[in-house]
Amino acid sequence: MTERAIHRIAVNTGGGDAPGLNAVIRAIVLSSLHRGWEVLGIHKGYEGLLDTSKIIQLDRDSVRGITHIGGTILGTTNKNSPFEYPTKLPSGEVTLVDRSDEVVDAFRRLRIDALIAIGGDGSMRIASQFAAKGLPIIGVPKTIDNDLSGTVVTFGFDTAVMVASEAIDRLHSTAEAHERVMVVEVMGRYAGWIALHSGVASTADVILIPEIPFDFSAVCEKINDREARGRRFSIVVVAEGAKPAGGQLTVKGHELGREVQLGGIAELVAREISARTGKETRTVVLGHLQRGGAPTTFDRLLALRFGAAAVRMVEARQFNHMVALDPPRVHAVPLEVATSRMKCVPLDGDTMQTARDLGISFGDEVG
Ligand code: F6P
Repeated sequence: MTERAIHRIAVNTGGGDAPGLNAVIRAIVLSSLHRGWEVLGIHKGYEGLLDTSKIIQLDRDSVRGITHIGGTILGTTNKNSPFEYPTKLPSGEVTLVDRSDEVVDAFRRLRIDALIAIGGDGSMRIASQFAAKGLPIIGVPKTIDNDLSGTVVTFGFDTAVMVASEAIDRLHSTAEAHERVMVVEVMGRYAGWIALHSGVASTADVILIPEIPFDFSAVCEKINDREARGRRFSIVVVAEGAKPAGGQLTVKGHELGREVQLGGIAELVAREISARTGKETRTVVLGHLQRGGAPTTFDRLLALRFGAAAVRMVEARQFNHMVALDPPRVHAVPLEVATSRMKCVPLDGDTMQTARDLGISFGDEVG
């Protein structure tokens, strides 16, 4: 039996936004138009397939001049999986309902031949669940956290590291002027990639990452050592998912149908440092600054390459796979590889080794 030719594909963006999303969308749209296909843009992850009035046709004009623009022209959400959709019951109680069949029905009704889903681990898991229901899906990995398996790097990460590094660079002079300890909290969820890369690149004195539960004595020892050598200020970079040995994650909030919201560890670390060393401390939480604004050239190019590769995968009908970077090539990996485990910082990796050789403390060695 001959396979039905591709006529119409759809694209959506899910999870927290990351610089480079618009570049992927542009590459997908132009590569598809080039092949004579139509492209539908689905609003806010899968919301647009639950309410199809929000679906738009993407043409050349829709993607003009967006390569360098942050955010996503399709909108996004990091809550409300169609498989666990928060729904209010007549009693007023909110419960999670499986609405995935509505998505599949809309997909068929709209005669979509393939969906390119751009997202992080949560979105890849949803894509995998829809693939199991028979939808032809291709994933494109995105996240500033860089915690997706199967790809060496995700777009958005380089931009987040650049923003964090610039901030840490700036904090050096004010920390030195006031002889203070500055504690900078960066994003990354349960992986320490952003903290490690920005901290090493910007000469942090202490880097605290989720992969290494830290000890306050070790952190303060490093600060006191510097003090003794006449370096009367210190920069501590702490990942939002870092925690003291034997302690808990610092959590800001929890809402039904979404992942727990991390945040607040910098304050805890600063308070403890101040109490133990007597030094004045200040905190900076970089938050969403790391996700906003224009992507770096690296992220733009990676995003464009991922978008074009995803379209080639549709053409080759290589569904249920995710685009991935394995330098120098971009290739396809099964979606299950991407969702099998979180990609954490390898503790025996070269960047960790470099940091230790530079004398950076991870709060795990008391002298
Ligand atoms: O996954 C990207 C990310 O920015 C994480 O680093 C962070 O924990 C989370 O999203 C923040 O989510 P929100 O945008 O809902 O505050």
